[in-house]
Amino acid sequence: MTLLIRGGTVVNHDHTRRADVLIEGGTIVAVGAKLDAPAGAEVIDAGGAYVLPGGIDPHTHLDMPFMGTYSADDFESGTTAAVAGGTTMVVDFCLPGPGQSLLAAYQEWRHKGEKAVADYSLHMAITWWDKQVFDEMETVVKTYGINTFKHFLAYKGALMVNDDELFHSFSRCAGLGALPLVHAENGDIVFRLQQHYFDLGVTGPEGHSYSRPPEVEGEATNRAIMIADMAGSPLYVVHTSCRESHEAIARARAAGKRVFGEPLIQHLVLDDREYQSKDWDYAARRVMSPPFRDRSHQASLWAGLQSGSLQVVATDHCAFTTDQKRFGLGDFRKIPNGTGGLEDRLPVLWDAGVNTGRLTPEEFVAVTSTNIARILNIYPRKGAVAVGSDADLVVWDPEATKTVSAKTQKSRIDYNVFEGYRCRGLPAVTISRGRVVYRDGAVSAKPGDGQYVERPAFPAVHVANATWKDLTRPRGVERLEVTP
Ligand code: URP
Ligand code: ZN
Ligand code: ZN
Ligand code: ZN
Repeated sequence: MTLLIRGGTVVNHDHTRRADVLIEGGTIVAVGAKLDAPAGAEVIDAGGAYVLPGGIDPHTHLDMPFMGTYSADDFESGTTAAVAGGTTMVVDFCLPGPGQSLLAAYQEWRHKGEKAVADYSLHMAITWWDKQVFDEMETVVKTYGINTFKHFLAYKGALMVNDDELFHSFSRCAGLGALPLVHAENGDIVFRLQQHYFDLGVTGPEGHSYSRPPEVEGEATNRAIMIADMAGSPLYVVHTSCRESHEAIARARAAGKRVFGEPLIQHLVLDDREYQSKDWDYAARRVMSPPFRDRSHQASLWAGLQSGSLQVVATDHCAFTTDQKRFGLGDFRKIPNGTGGLEDRLPVLWDAGVNTGRLTPEEFVAVTSTNIARILNIYPRKGAVAVGSDADLVVWDPEATKTVSAKTQKSRIDYNVFEGYRCRGLPAVTISRGRVVYRDGAVSAKPGDGQYVERPAFPAVHVANATWKDLTRPRGVERLEVTP
């Protein structure tokens, strides 16, 4: 299958130029001015449009067992929403149950992924700890091509792990050349605050937000950074939602630590006034962890993306229907945590970021695709419009407009937290490994078209960390013999 994208402006994270893009067999084979269309090639006219690397969303929960239910978007509907929004790859979280083998959980999640219409990869969560987990981590990295391990510092009594387990797991990551990820909220304090507000009679969705203040996220981020440093591993902080957490990451980076931060599109544009709605459903639909914050935090997150102290914009797409949210009527602690965004991340970020001048188109490409491809060690196969890269591309029309609406979305849920948001700048065509998968509002990819993407370990980062740690470690003092 041969495809020529003609007349567009190619935007990579580091340069922009007018160029045609020629694709053969799923791979980009030429990028240059006035390329000839080979016989039989399909030609896509990208005049007036940008040609961007497809979005990569490194944080989704499709078909996730959580809080007594399953998230409503599975790999089919989730990746369908993704390609409709210009995202050509997602990375989902494989979550072993209590005492479950990581290898068995991996097989379960690969089975879920068979329905994906776009490429997907997996992070492995460490939800418990013993020698079996330690041993299986090696197979996960070396055989399954998973170089990231997720740790929840929240969800006490469910997914949460303690500091001792974190230290063991981060040390194991360092030894294997893997990158630990953390959900940074102090789960013990959240648990107490939930009880506190519930006892005071705050039973509605606002109690969710009150019991997870920025301070608990800031503390957990600082703690995870310290533990990673002691263990000699890099660290990636998912859903960085507040100034406290961003400042911890910025401080660590200024001190030379390899620490990364990931704001969500939700936290960049939505805020905690939503939880004050008189409409219970409206407020509950916006319950996620960390919760939406006071608006003042948004400036810090945007500044982090602009200055490079935060690197990636994700969605944490974990969609529950209104009926599922109603499990928590009368007790906010039972509202399934999560919101959607896979179809909306690129259009909303373009509108709120590029149209306002907060981000250049190149910076937009960096935070939606290239940076995470590099962090996950799949660059330049993914994350670049370059010869030899997978032909995962978006023809981006900067003048096209739409108003976000649940009525027209691909996600299975019955609402959208961005409802009514007016976007200027939309994907016109999405291409996945050389095939048109979205055009004119319709997704043509089928379940099973998505491939599993293996991600090798990062030896160079860990050799550097280990070399520096060894050079600078405290050493025992050689003393003169004590004479009696
Ligand atoms: O509320 C959220 N974020 N739900 C998904 C699980 C998680 O913590 O990422
Ligand atoms: Zn299967
Ligand atoms: Zn989380
Ligand atoms: Zn998540």
